[in-house]
Amino acid sequence: MPPKILVTGAAGQIGAELVPALRLRYGNAQVVAAVHKAPGAEALRAGPTVTLDVVDEEAISKAVRDHGVDTIYHLAALLSAVGEDKPDLAWEVNMKGLKSVLDVARRSGVKRVFWPSSIAVFGPNAPRTMTPQNASLIPTTIYGVSKVSGELLCNYYFLKYGLDVRSLRYPGLISSEAPPGGGTTDYAVEIFYAALEKGAYTCFLRKETALPMMYMPDALDATISIMETDVARVKLHGGYNLSAMSFSAEELAAEIGKHVKGFSVSYAPDRRQKIADSWPMSVDDSEARKDWGWSPKYGLPRMTEDMLSRLGRRLKPQKDV
Ligand SMILES: NC(=O)c1ccc[n+]([C@@H]2O[C@H](COP(=O)([O-])OP(=O)(O)OC[C@H]3O[C@@H](n4cnc5c(N)ncnc54)[C@H](O)[C@@H]3O)[C@@H](O)[C@H]2O)c1
Repeated sequence: MPPKILVTGAAGQIGAELVPALRLRYGNAQVVAAVHKAPGAEALRAGPTVTLDVVDEEAISKAVRDHGVDTIYHLAALLSAVGEDKPDLAWEVNMKGLKSVLDVARRSGVKRVFWPSSIAVFGPNAPRTMTPQNASLIPTTIYGVSKVSGELLCNYYFLKYGLDVRSLRYPGLISSEAPPGGGTTDYAVEIFYAALEKGAYTCFLRKETALPMMYMPDALDATISIMETDVARVKLHGGYNLSAMSFSAEELAAEIGKHVKGFSVSYAPDRRQKIADSWPMSVDDSEARKDWGWSPKYGLPRMTEDMLSRLGRRLKPQKDV
Protein backbone atom coordinates (compact mmCIF):
# COMPACT_ATOMS: atom_id res chain seq x y z
CA MET A 1 0.00 0.00 0.00
CA PRO A 2 1.42 3.44 -0.88
CA PRO A 3 1.64 5.89 2.05
CA LYS A 4 -1.13 8.45 2.62
CA ILE A 5 0.76 11.68 3.00
CA LEU A 6 0.14 15.16 4.42
CA VAL A 7 2.63 17.87 3.33
CA THR A 8 2.55 21.11 5.35
CA GLY A 9 4.05 24.28 3.84
CA ALA A 10 3.07 22.78 0.45
CA ALA A 11 3.14 26.11 -1.42
CA GLY A 12 6.71 26.95 -0.37
CA GLN A 13 9.97 26.56 -2.27
CA ILE A 14 10.33 22.87 -1.37
CA GLY A 15 6.65 21.91 -1.11
CA ALA A 16 5.88 23.22 -4.60
CA GLU A 17 8.24 20.56 -5.99
CA LEU A 18 7.99 17.86 -3.31
CA VAL A 19 4.20 17.53 -3.62
CA PRO A 20 4.30 16.82 -7.41
CA ALA A 21 7.27 14.46 -6.91
CA LEU A 22 5.41 12.48 -4.21
CA ARG A 23 2.23 12.42 -6.32
CA LEU A 24 4.18 11.11 -9.30
CA ARG A 25 5.58 8.35 -7.11
CA TYR A 26 2.52 7.33 -5.06
CA GLY A 27 -0.49 8.74 -6.98
CA ASN A 28 -2.24 12.14 -6.85
CA ALA A 29 -4.90 11.03 -4.37
CA GLN A 30 -2.27 9.81 -1.88
CA VAL A 31 -0.78 13.26 -1.20
CA VAL A 32 -2.69 16.00 0.65
CA ALA A 33 -1.15 19.45 0.15
CA ALA A 34 -1.63 21.70 3.22
CA VAL A 35 -1.31 25.41 2.46
CA HIS A 36 -1.49 28.31 4.90
CA LYS A 37 -3.70 31.27 3.91
CA ALA A 38 -3.09 31.58 0.19
CA PRO A 39 -4.82 29.13 -2.14
CA GLY A 40 -1.43 27.83 -3.36
CA ALA A 41 -0.19 27.12 -6.86
CA GLU A 42 -2.58 25.67 -9.44
CA ALA A 43 -0.35 22.56 -9.68
CA LEU A 44 -1.10 21.67 -6.03
CA ARG A 45 -4.77 21.21 -6.94
CA ALA A 46 -3.99 18.10 -9.00
CA GLY A 47 -4.72 16.24 -5.73
CA PRO A 48 -6.38 16.90 -2.36
CA THR A 49 -5.57 20.18 -0.57
CA VAL A 50 -6.39 21.60 2.87
CA THR A 51 -5.86 25.03 4.41
CA LEU A 52 -4.47 25.08 7.93
CA ASP A 53 -2.23 26.92 10.38
CA VAL A 54 0.40 24.56 11.79
CA VAL A 55 0.18 26.07 15.26
CA ASP A 56 -3.44 24.84 15.33
CA GLU A 57 -3.08 21.25 16.56
CA GLU A 58 -6.79 20.50 16.10
CA ALA A 59 -6.65 21.56 12.44
CA ILE A 60 -3.72 19.19 11.83
CA SER A 61 -5.53 16.44 13.69
CA LYS A 62 -8.67 16.95 11.55
CA ALA A 63 -6.66 16.83 8.30
CA VAL A 64 -4.99 13.58 9.44
CA ARG A 65 -8.37 12.04 10.43
CA ASP A 66 -10.30 13.23 7.38
CA HIS A 67 -7.72 11.90 4.92
CA GLY A 68 -6.48 8.80 6.78
CA VAL A 69 -2.93 10.17 6.80
CA ASP A 70 -0.13 7.82 7.90
CA THR A 71 2.91 9.91 6.86
CA ILE A 72 3.63 13.64 7.37
CA TYR A 73 6.20 15.83 5.64
CA HIS A 74 6.24 18.91 7.87
CA LEU A 75 7.78 21.74 5.85
CA ALA A 76 5.94 24.83 7.17
CA ALA A 77 8.36 27.21 8.90
CA LEU A 78 9.76 30.74 8.95
CA LEU A 79 13.25 30.85 7.45
CA SER A 80 16.46 32.52 8.64
CA ALA A 81 16.21 36.11 7.37
CA VAL A 82 12.45 36.43 8.05
CA GLY A 83 13.04 34.81 11.45
CA GLU A 84 15.53 37.50 12.46
CA ASP A 85 12.92 40.15 11.55
CA LYS A 86 10.15 38.32 13.47
CA PRO A 87 11.80 36.17 16.16
CA ASP A 88 8.63 35.66 18.26
CA LEU A 89 6.62 34.47 15.27
CA ALA A 90 9.53 32.29 14.09
CA TRP A 91 9.64 30.53 17.47
CA GLU A 92 5.85 30.12 17.54
CA VAL A 93 5.52 28.71 14.01
CA ASN A 94 8.71 26.64 14.04
CA MET A 95 8.41 25.15 17.52
CA LYS A 96 4.66 25.05 18.23
CA GLY A 97 4.10 23.92 14.64
CA LEU A 98 6.57 21.05 15.01
CA LYS A 99 5.31 20.01 18.45
CA SER A 100 1.71 20.04 17.19
CA VAL A 101 2.63 17.82 14.24
CA LEU A 102 4.59 15.41 16.47
CA ASP A 103 1.76 15.22 19.04
CA VAL A 104 -0.89 14.60 16.39
CA ALA A 105 1.39 11.98 14.80
CA ARG A 106 1.95 10.01 18.01
CA ARG A 107 -1.71 10.14 19.04
CA SER A 108 -3.14 9.28 15.61
CA GLY A 109 -0.88 6.36 14.79
CA VAL A 110 0.97 8.22 12.02
CA LYS A 111 3.80 5.88 11.05
CA ARG A 112 6.49 8.28 9.85
CA VAL A 113 7.29 12.01 9.94
CA PHE A 114 9.79 13.99 7.87
CA TRP A 115 10.97 17.33 9.25
CA PRO A 116 13.74 19.38 7.65
CA SER A 117 16.52 20.78 9.76
CA SER A 118 19.21 23.04 8.31
CA ILE A 119 22.90 23.94 8.25
CA ALA A 120 21.66 26.85 10.42
CA VAL A 121 21.98 24.51 13.44
CA PHE A 122 25.69 25.40 13.45
CA GLY A 123 27.07 28.62 14.86
CA PRO A 124 30.33 30.53 14.52
CA ASN A 125 32.16 28.28 17.00
CA ALA A 126 31.71 25.16 14.81
CA PRO A 127 34.44 24.33 12.27
CA ARG A 128 33.57 26.31 9.11
CA THR A 129 34.78 23.77 6.56
CA MET A 130 33.63 20.17 6.31
CA THR A 131 31.62 20.77 9.47
CA PRO A 132 31.19 17.33 11.08
CA GLN A 133 27.86 15.78 12.04
CA ASN A 134 28.62 16.12 15.73
CA ALA A 135 30.09 19.63 15.79
CA SER A 136 28.77 21.81 18.61
CA LEU A 137 25.35 23.35 17.93
CA ILE A 138 25.33 26.93 19.22
CA PRO A 139 23.59 28.95 16.50
CA THR A 140 23.21 32.72 16.72
CA THR A 141 19.88 33.07 14.85
CA ILE A 142 16.40 32.29 16.20
CA TYR A 143 15.94 30.10 13.12
CA GLY A 144 19.02 28.06 14.07
CA VAL A 145 17.87 27.90 17.70
CA SER A 146 14.50 26.55 16.53
CA LYS A 147 16.23 23.97 14.32
CA VAL A 148 18.51 22.72 17.14
CA SER A 149 15.52 22.55 19.51
CA GLY A 150 13.49 20.81 16.79
CA GLU A 151 16.19 18.19 16.27
CA LEU A 152 16.26 17.47 19.99
CA LEU A 153 12.46 17.27 20.11
CA CYS A 154 12.34 14.86 17.15
CA ASN A 155 14.95 12.64 18.77
CA TYR A 156 13.05 12.76 22.09
CA TYR A 157 9.77 11.70 20.41
CA PHE A 158 11.63 8.80 18.78
CA LEU A 159 13.11 7.66 22.11
CA LYS A 160 10.05 8.32 24.28
CA TYR A 161 7.16 7.38 21.97
CA GLY A 162 8.85 5.35 19.23
CA LEU A 163 7.69 7.90 16.64
CA ASP A 164 9.71 7.33 13.46
CA VAL A 165 10.88 10.90 12.71
CA ARG A 166 13.50 11.44 10.01
CA SER A 167 15.34 14.65 9.35
CA LEU A 168 17.95 16.21 7.05
CA ARG A 169 20.03 19.32 7.58
CA TYR A 170 19.40 20.84 4.17
CA PRO A 171 21.99 23.26 2.82
CA GLY A 172 20.77 26.29 0.82
CA LEU A 173 18.41 25.00 -1.88
CA ILE A 174 18.42 26.22 -5.47
CA SER A 175 15.28 25.65 -7.52
CA SER A 176 13.42 26.91 -10.56
CA GLU A 177 9.73 26.46 -9.62
CA ALA A 178 8.68 28.40 -6.48
CA PRO A 179 10.71 31.40 -5.24
CA PRO A 180 12.62 31.00 -1.96
CA GLY A 181 10.82 32.15 1.19
CA GLY A 182 13.20 34.53 2.99
CA GLY A 183 16.42 32.68 3.74
CA THR A 184 20.09 33.70 3.64
CA THR A 185 20.87 31.59 0.57
CA ASP A 186 18.06 33.15 -1.54
CA TYR A 187 20.65 35.07 -3.57
CA ALA A 188 21.62 31.81 -5.30
CA VAL A 189 18.13 31.64 -6.85
CA GLU A 190 17.55 35.38 -7.43
CA ILE A 191 20.81 35.63 -9.38
CA PHE A 192 19.50 33.30 -12.12
CA TYR A 193 16.32 35.36 -12.66
CA ALA A 194 18.36 38.58 -12.71
CA ALA A 195 20.89 37.14 -15.17
CA LEU A 196 18.16 36.17 -17.62
CA GLU A 197 15.88 39.18 -17.14
CA LYS A 198 18.35 42.04 -16.67
CA GLY A 199 21.86 40.74 -17.33
CA ALA A 200 22.90 42.23 -13.98
CA TYR A 201 22.50 41.42 -10.27
CA THR A 202 23.29 43.07 -6.96
CA CYS A 203 24.16 40.36 -4.45
CA PHE A 204 23.29 40.84 -0.76
CA LEU A 205 26.35 38.82 0.36
CA ARG A 206 30.06 39.59 -0.11
CA LYS A 207 31.58 37.97 -3.17
CA GLU A 208 33.86 35.62 -1.23
CA THR A 209 31.03 34.27 0.95
CA ALA A 210 30.94 30.50 0.46
CA LEU A 211 28.01 28.38 1.63
CA PRO A 212 26.90 24.75 1.22
CA MET A 213 24.22 24.46 -1.49
CA MET A 214 22.11 21.81 -3.20
CA TYR A 215 19.97 21.66 -6.34
CA MET A 216 16.32 20.82 -5.70
CA PRO A 217 16.29 17.49 -7.63
CA ASP A 218 18.99 16.22 -5.24
CA ALA A 219 17.07 17.55 -2.21
CA LEU A 220 13.91 15.72 -3.37
CA ASP A 221 15.91 12.52 -3.95
CA ALA A 222 17.47 12.74 -0.48
CA THR A 223 14.10 13.41 1.15
CA ILE A 224 12.22 10.57 -0.52
CA SER A 225 15.19 8.28 -0.12
CA ILE A 226 15.55 8.73 3.66
CA MET A 227 11.79 8.33 4.06
CA GLU A 228 11.82 5.03 2.14
CA THR A 229 14.94 3.65 3.86
CA ASP A 230 14.49 0.70 6.20
CA VAL A 231 14.25 2.02 9.78
CA ALA A 232 17.24 -0.10 10.85
CA ARG A 233 19.49 2.02 8.59
CA VAL A 234 18.36 5.33 10.06
CA LYS A 235 20.76 5.84 12.96
CA LEU A 236 20.00 9.52 13.61
CA HIS A 237 16.52 10.87 14.27
CA GLY A 238 17.59 14.47 14.86
CA GLY A 239 19.08 15.58 11.53
CA TYR A 240 21.65 14.19 9.08
CA ASN A 241 24.27 16.51 7.58
CA LEU A 242 23.62 16.63 3.83
CA SER A 243 25.92 18.05 1.19
CA ALA A 244 26.20 18.42 -2.57
CA MET A 245 28.30 21.48 -3.50
CA SER A 246 29.83 24.55 -1.95
CA PHE A 247 30.62 27.80 -3.77
CA SER A 248 31.06 31.50 -3.18
CA ALA A 249 28.77 34.16 -4.66
CA GLU A 250 31.60 35.11 -7.01
CA GLU A 251 32.07 31.52 -8.21
CA LEU A 252 28.36 31.19 -8.96
CA ALA A 253 28.38 34.51 -10.86
CA ALA A 254 31.36 33.32 -12.93
CA GLU A 255 29.63 30.03 -13.75
CA ILE A 256 26.48 31.85 -14.91
CA GLY A 257 28.70 34.26 -16.87
CA LYS A 258 29.93 31.33 -18.98
CA HIS A 259 26.38 31.08 -20.38
CA VAL A 260 24.97 34.63 -20.17
CA LYS A 261 27.09 37.04 -22.21
CA GLY A 262 27.96 40.30 -20.45
CA PHE A 263 26.40 39.26 -17.10
CA SER A 264 27.60 41.65 -14.38
CA VAL A 265 27.32 41.33 -10.60
CA SER A 266 27.89 43.92 -7.89
CA TYR A 267 27.94 43.26 -4.16
CA ALA A 268 26.05 45.18 -1.45
CA PRO A 269 26.09 43.05 1.72
CA ASP A 270 23.09 43.60 4.01
CA ARG A 271 21.92 42.16 7.37
CA ARG A 272 22.02 38.64 5.89
CA GLN A 273 25.84 38.76 5.67
CA LYS A 274 26.07 38.33 9.44
CA ILE A 275 23.90 35.21 9.27
CA ALA A 276 25.97 33.74 6.41
CA ASP A 277 29.19 34.42 8.34
CA SER A 278 27.90 32.31 11.24
CA TRP A 279 27.23 29.24 9.03
CA PRO A 280 29.51 26.52 7.64
CA MET A 281 31.13 26.95 4.22
CA SER A 282 30.89 23.20 3.61
CA VAL A 283 29.62 20.21 5.61
CA ASP A 284 30.73 16.62 6.01
CA ASP A 285 27.82 14.31 5.16
CA SER A 286 29.67 10.99 5.46
CA GLU A 287 27.11 9.64 8.00
CA ALA A 288 24.26 10.03 5.46
CA ARG A 289 26.40 8.39 2.76
CA LYS A 290 27.33 5.50 5.06
CA ASP A 291 23.95 4.88 6.74
CA TRP A 292 21.49 5.10 3.85
CA GLY A 293 23.58 5.49 0.71
CA TRP A 294 23.17 9.23 0.03
CA SER A 295 24.96 10.54 -3.06
CA PRO A 296 24.19 13.82 -4.91
CA LYS A 297 24.00 14.10 -8.70
CA TYR A 298 24.42 17.84 -9.25
CA GLY A 299 27.55 19.99 -8.87
CA LEU A 300 27.89 23.68 -9.75
CA PRO A 301 28.31 23.41 -13.57
CA ARG A 302 25.46 20.91 -14.11
CA MET A 303 23.09 22.74 -11.74
CA THR A 304 23.82 26.09 -13.45
CA GLU A 305 23.16 24.69 -16.92
CA ASP A 306 19.91 23.07 -15.83
CA MET A 307 18.65 26.18 -13.99
CA LEU A 308 19.36 28.42 -16.99
CA SER A 309 17.72 26.01 -19.38
CA ARG A 310 14.56 25.60 -17.24
CA LEU A 311 14.20 29.32 -16.46
CA GLY A 312 15.15 30.26 -20.02
CA ARG A 313 12.09 28.36 -21.24
CA ARG A 314 9.84 30.26 -18.80
CA LEU A 315 11.30 33.78 -18.83
CA LYS A 316 11.85 36.08 -21.77
CA PRO A 317 15.65 36.32 -21.93
CA GLN A 318 17.14 39.71 -22.62
CA LYS A 319 20.59 38.22 -22.88
CA ASP A 320 21.84 35.40 -25.07
CA VAL A 321 22.08 32.15 -23.22
N1 LIG B 1 14.79 26.40 1.16
C1 LIG B 1 15.93 26.18 1.77
O1 LIG B 1 17.01 26.56 1.25
C2 LIG B 1 15.95 25.43 3.08
C3 LIG B 1 17.20 25.11 3.65
C4 LIG B 1 17.22 24.46 4.88
C5 LIG B 1 16.04 24.07 5.49
N2 LIG B 1 14.85 24.39 4.92
C6 LIG B 1 13.63 24.00 5.63
O2 LIG B 1 12.71 23.37 4.76
C7 LIG B 1 11.37 23.71 5.14
C8 LIG B 1 10.63 24.30 3.96
O3 LIG B 1 11.36 25.40 3.49
P1 LIG B 1 10.93 26.24 2.21
O4 LIG B 1 12.18 26.76 1.62
O5 LIG B 1 9.98 25.50 1.36
O6 LIG B 1 10.20 27.46 2.93
P2 LIG B 1 9.18 28.54 2.30
O7 LIG B 1 9.28 29.77 3.13
O8 LIG B 1 9.37 28.66 0.83
O9 LIG B 1 7.80 27.83 2.56
C9 LIG B 1 7.28 27.66 3.85
C10 LIG B 1 5.78 27.55 3.75
O10 LIG B 1 5.26 27.48 5.07
C11 LIG B 1 4.04 28.20 5.09
N3 LIG B 1 3.74 28.64 6.46
C12 LIG B 1 4.33 29.64 7.17
N4 LIG B 1 3.73 29.77 8.37
C13 LIG B 1 2.76 28.83 8.42
C14 LIG B 1 1.79 28.48 9.39
N5 LIG B 1 1.71 29.12 10.58
N6 LIG B 1 0.93 27.47 9.12
C15 LIG B 1 1.01 26.81 7.94
N7 LIG B 1 1.89 27.12 6.98
C16 LIG B 1 2.75 28.10 7.21
C17 LIG B 1 4.26 29.37 4.16
O11 LIG B 1 3.02 29.83 3.66
C18 LIG B 1 5.12 28.75 3.05
O12 LIG B 1 4.34 28.30 1.97
C19 LIG B 1 11.50 24.64 6.36
O13 LIG B 1 11.44 23.88 7.54
C20 LIG B 1 12.90 25.20 6.21
O14 LIG B 1 13.43 25.59 7.43
C21 LIG B 1 14.79 25.06 3.74
